[in-house]
Amino acid sequence: MSRIEAARAILAANDRGGYTVPTNRLYPFQWNWDSAFVAMGWATFDFDRAWREIERLLEGQWEDGLVPQIVFHAPSEDYFPGPAVWGIARTPPTSGIPQPPVLATAARFVLERHGEDGIARARAIYPKLVANHLWWQRARDPDDTGLVATLHPWETGMDNSPAWDAALERVPTETQTEIRRRDTGHVDAAFRPRGVEYQRFIHLVDLFRGTGWDAVRMLQLSPFKVADVGTNAILLRAERDLLALAERFGTAEERDTIASRIARKETVIAGLWDEPLGHYLTRDLIGGGLIPVRTSAGFLPLFAGLHDHAAALAERIDAWRRRGIGLVPSTDPDAASFEPQRYWRGPVWAVVNWMIARGLREAGLDATADSVASETRRLIGDAGFSEYFNPIDSAGIGGGTFSWTAAIDLLLGEEAQR
Ligand code: GLC
Repeated sequence: MSRIEAARAILAANDRGGYTVPTNRLYPFQWNWDSAFVAMGWATFDFDRAWREIERLLEGQWEDGLVPQIVFHAPSEDYFPGPAVWGIARTPPTSGIPQPPVLATAARFVLERHGEDGIARARAIYPKLVANHLWWQRARDPDDTGLVATLHPWETGMDNSPAWDAALERVPTETQTEIRRRDTGHVDAAFRPRGVEYQRFIHLVDLFRGTGWDAVRMLQLSPFKVADVGTNAILLRAERDLLALAERFGTAEERDTIASRIARKETVIAGLWDEPLGHYLTRDLIGGGLIPVRTSAGFLPLFAGLHDHAAALAERIDAWRRRGIGLVPSTDPDAASFEPQRYWRGPVWAVVNWMIARGLREAGLDATADSVASETRRLIGDAGFSEYFNPIDSAGIGGGTFSWTAAIDLLLGEEAQR
């Protein structure tokens, strides 16, 4: 089987009827940002299926515009916390928090490839994307600071980043829900979050459920509140892509609103640059300061179109490469918190690399973009379509037939042909 066929076969095997599970067993439902990347992967060979992926994710959208982190289309005993813990009475059931908003970027990507034939599908999706971006504004930045707040590490998609450690210390470990982890039954516990982190994760879920998932009260009450540089950068990128869609489908008023959000975000996200560390950082919205840990999220302002520090960021990546470190580690390999195989504390994720490579390319740094892209392909080529990769020994870790890794391989494979 060719590499392209192998990647397509993974998407097909993880297809559960119009939506793609991240991998069999470990993640048996539809995840938000996974599906956005996966939709772009489907778009390399099946437009109808690409649109279906987005449409099925939007089946989980709430009336207030939230596109949840997980849509529980079909029951499964393989995952904790399932629908009963979230306690959200919807059909289909969902979780109650967001994930990085890659969806508008995915919709634009699929439309641009599909061309005129994709217009009807995109037109139907567009108002839902508008509603989702308004949700971010109202629920997570009601004071119009230009930065959206993250209330749970899971919302960042980078669940166990050391950037959350200090802020997470404020979260009590008591839970109302009995913790019955399933992940460690599927993969080695050494690669997964530690027990005490899990208690804090569930404490937050219990707290939010207790507000009846009221966005205002969640924002007021959460003991964990950060302006994640990754989420904010991805949202800024998504706003630009939404504006491109609005040029075709929106009103002048919508375009003005989106454009003014973009202008504001550009200024404020630029302020997440930390000169001493030479990196973009996350702001702790409770403690106040920038969190002094360099993570792969700090490269994502490039993807958002902020190019002021592009050369310095590229130089860091080039320096890692010269040292033989697999690109791009999720945590700076020189940081005390670096762990090359533990979840989000060091390993490489293909989806993050794809965004970084794209940002570098758009900033005109083609050589570094090529390094990141070809390294991603090398890791997948050597280790398979793993969930993530060890940047020191290049081993594949976590689930082994991962949808978003397959999707990114399809995208990078095509780009390499050009
Ligand atoms: C983990 C990852 C998250 C991803 C999910 C499904 O929770 O941290 O980013 O969306 O798995 O793949």
